[in-house]
Amino acid sequence: MKFFVDSADIAAIKDLNDLGMVDGVTTNPSLILKSGRDILEVTKEICDIVDGPVSAEVVATEAETMIEEGRKLAKIADNIAVKVPLTWDGLKACKVLSDEGRMVNVTLCFSVNQALLAAKAGATFISPFIGRLDDINIDGMDLIEDIRTVYDNFDFTTQILAASIRTVNHVADSARIGADVITAPPEVIRKLADHPLTDKGLATFLADWEKTGQKIL
Ligand code: G3P
Repeated sequence: MKFFVDSADIAAIKDLNDLGMVDGVTTNPSLILKSGRDILEVTKEICDIVDGPVSAEVVATEAETMIEEGRKLAKIADNIAVKVPLTWDGLKACKVLSDEGRMVNVTLCFSVNQALLAAKAGATFISPFIGRLDDINIDGMDLIEDIRTVYDNFDFTTQILAASIRTVNHVADSARIGADVITAPPEVIRKLADHPLTDKGLATFLADWEKTGQKIL
């Protein structure tokens, strides 16, 4: 399973990328706002750091303008995936941009039917938002599972990019179900290493080592 970082924070992306934990990056207008940076500049910097797909989102709501925005964003670097919303206009833009050979990430997916449409429109990635479904008491993981089943039933090659990931359990469950990619904030990725028994075990080992009076270096 691939790990994308859901962030436009250059330092955080660089940090995880140096550890080999970054297969790609996803951004959206809210993350650009949070970064306080110019979209074209910060996206270019991210593309220079990360080899894998970097999603940059269009903001038009009408297909023709989405396509123009998508083409402009795609000029930033070869690894740009143009992100479009799951609306009919977004699907039209997806079809045109994917026919041009560009990577397209269809975002704001909340149903299996929407995911089907995105696959038929040639999406490279479909982004179902787990956390936002959980927010309204619908289990986001059920959606990931349903999309996996339907895509496998018909051999769709669109990759399931589990998004709006808020917890380490979202990551584990996405992996278990077979999402192709998770995109998570840097803090969630860092938390994947945490386990209280690891901390407890290490404290015991270090205390016992101290008692041996030995040194390795
Ligand atoms: O990947 C989509 C993500 O940025 C949305 O996350 O936590 O705002 O629902 P959230």
